[in-house]
Amino acid sequence: MAVLVTGGAGFIGSHTAVELLNSGKDIVIVDNFSNSKPKALDAIRKITGKDFKFYEIDYLDREKLEKVFEENKIDAVLNFAGYKAVGESVKKPLEYYENNVSGCIVLLETMRKYNVKKFVFSSSATVYGQPERIPLTEDCKVGGTTNPYGTSKLFIEQILKDLYNSDNSWDICILRYFNPVGAHESGLIGEEPQGVPNNLMPYVVRVAAGELKELSVFGNDYDTPDGTGVRDYIHVVDLAKGHICALNKLDKEGSGLFIYNLGTGTGYSVLDMVKAFEQITGKKVPYKIAPRRAGDIATCYSDPTKAKEELGWTAEKGIKEMCEDSWNFIQKNKE
Ligand code: UFG
Repeated sequence: MAVLVTGGAGFIGSHTAVELLNSGKDIVIVDNFSNSKPKALDAIRKITGKDFKFYEIDYLDREKLEKVFEENKIDAVLNFAGYKAVGESVKKPLEYYENNVSGCIVLLETMRKYNVKKFVFSSSATVYGQPERIPLTEDCKVGGTTNPYGTSKLFIEQILKDLYNSDNSWDICILRYFNPVGAHESGLIGEEPQGVPNNLMPYVVRVAAGELKELSVFGNDYDTPDGTGVRDYIHVVDLAKGHICALNKLDKEGSGLFIYNLGTGTGYSVLDMVKAFEQITGKKVPYKIAPRRAGDIATCYSDPTKAKEELGWTAEKGIKEMCEDSWNFIQKNKE
């Protein structure tokens, strides 16, 4: 039996593939390299010393996706295939809904056809919109997303709830990621955004590496300790391990629909991150204060208690590893 990993060459998918192989699972990866590179697959093999089957296909291509289910004994699916750039989603809403929502529907229909009903979905803290309260627990209200990317995650969550209500033999886990950063300690896989990065950490490392002039800190007049935005940064390897715990939970339960926050429970401001990065790597990160970025909220961090109690999962890596591993990755992967 194998776990199908869609988007397995991407940032979170590749790290999760490593953890799956390390935990003794067989995997099959599907990716169309729309935002990833084939070398990630070799890196996964190198890190784990294990091999796996790979299909270069778009998960919207129903015929090709069905072939994957015909040719392999799939018993669970982890879905990392999705577009994820907030700003781009505002400019390309149809592409985002098509790829994220329609793609997920094709995947679920194919699963149903082959009677595979174990599904782990990559959702996001963005579904909470303007947080009802901090720290965010899973029962906080969702909605009020401010961009098509976030709304696509919200729609898929609703689709999964409706699907489970229609047939409760499904076994579904929705994981709401907070802010994934860092990279595998080997430096072989990590985040490689195309063009100028939108997210804080990839931007910070490129400034430190001298590839970008300075960081713009988007707003210092938020109602936070230093005025800059506060987020729950989580090391991508911890996040990847959360998926193994989610799969174990689904195996144990047999059926159900579960939702968990995957975060550390600690909030760091933009300036906290900059200072920590400078201290840990010894590199300077010049920055200037810029206007607030549209759609940003002041503070967003999780209460990770539910994942701890029900999945036995807690984030273990701190800000030091997040900075070190992000830096190590960019050093080892200079173009
Ligand atoms: N920031 C800057 N300068 C930059 C980039 C970011 O000051 O150049 C600030 C932002 O204003 C924010 C913080 O750094 O306060 C984090 O911003 P990111 O863009 O790294 O992350 P977001 O919290 O905006 O969004 C991330 C993911 C989304 C996800 C969301 C969930 O990118 O996919 O977390 O909360 F939906």
